[in-house]
Amino acid sequence: MMSKLFRNASITTPSDKGVPLAGKRQGEVQHFERGALYCQDGVIQCLGEEDEVLRDLTSRDVDVDMDCEGRPLIPGFVDPHTHMCFAKRREEEFTLRVEGMDYLEILQRGGGILSSVRAVRAASEDELFSVTRKHALSAQRFGTTTLEIKSGYGLETEAELKMLRVIERVGREATLDVVPTFLGAHAIPEEHRESPEDYVDHLIHNMIPAVSKQGIARFCDVFCEKNVFTVDQSRRILQAARETGLGLKIHADEVNDLGGAGLAAELRATSAEHLLAANEKNLRAMAERGVIGVLLPGTAYSLRKAYAPARKIMELGIPVAIATDCNPGSCYTESLPFIFGLAVLNMNLSVSEALVAATLNAAYAIGTAERVGSLDVGKSADFLLLDGESPAVLAYHAGVSPVMKVFKGGELVFPP
Ligand code: NIG
Ligand code: FE
Repeated sequence: MMSKLFRNASITTPSDKGVPLAGKRQGEVQHFERGALYCQDGVIQCLGEEDEVLRDLTSRDVDVDMDCEGRPLIPGFVDPHTHMCFAKRREEEFTLRVEGMDYLEILQRGGGILSSVRAVRAASEDELFSVTRKHALSAQRFGTTTLEIKSGYGLETEAELKMLRVIERVGREATLDVVPTFLGAHAIPEEHRESPEDYVDHLIHNMIPAVSKQGIARFCDVFCEKNVFTVDQSRRILQAARETGLGLKIHADEVNDLGGAGLAAELRATSAEHLLAANEKNLRAMAERGVIGVLLPGTAYSLRKAYAPARKIMELGIPVAIATDCNPGSCYTESLPFIFGLAVLNMNLSVSEALVAATLNAAYAIGTAERVGSLDVGKSADFLLLDGESPAVLAYHAGVSPVMKVFKGGELVFPP
């Protein structure tokens, strides 16, 4: 057994009471000014003010004793929404967007997601793995210790299964936890352009059963958007996924108010993501049904759209999480500190609200809160040491990463 004591740390963490934090509680965190964290074999055994933690320990209990020099210590970030499994970047398309072309217009012309589909179908499994691993390790340098990765650039059975194998392998071989999500309903593939209903049927009758048989994916997600999947199609796909035991997520009302948020409420999905254009009635329904709102301010930033109405969403009682959305089209970043800064400065979350959004609520959004998302006894010792005086430095020191050290299960994983 390996036991470690991290002393002299300014600890800030949500504490997990079994539900995501919503409304006035969204910003509820504990703080230990001169705190300590003690773990055995990577699992937190106790946490609190240093003198109290030390009172219960003898020197024989401690194999490694580390002085954190008074630095802020927070839980590792959980990134609950990424598309970082892709084969090729889309920098030319970015240039077109900067010059004024619309994101959905690019997709309509066969670019966007569809250009990523061509690249993923052509890539070997090892190529795809090496690019995805590189993105995941980049996220880790910015403090992410658990993340979700979606498929959705295959859009045919074998290519989707290949993506899910790659995603699972990243979690097995890299020092972070990865939750795989099946997003076969990310776009209508070119071969079904004239017959979208056939693709929906194919998803329901062939792809979802194959994904379920493969046994890797934990969630099923749908891009419910104008000219992509309608509310009715999304409902049928998600119902089929639910029958195979997958958790449900929806890309809802990202560009147009189609009703994805309402569908998330109706199906009691785990989460609805984006919500830039969601209407109040549907947001209220989400709050009533306890659906988590995953907000992606980097996407609004990169698409130059208005941000999701985060304060209103929180006032309605929806538990809010934040995520990078890391993808080659609408938001290419692995940096949770960057997203944290946008959440605080452009969506008006307080620092504590953003911290809960990037840790505990994010863990609930991907079904991992029993092991990660907060520094609670029995959870994995996944935490960060920051170069600053408090978690506010994450928003304050813009454009750089104040994440000095990253620990996963009590082990230093960054710097390597
Ligand atoms: O979350 N909205 C759909 N999917 C991604 C973008 C994917 C892409 O452009 O490659 C998103 O914004
Ligand atoms: Fe997305």
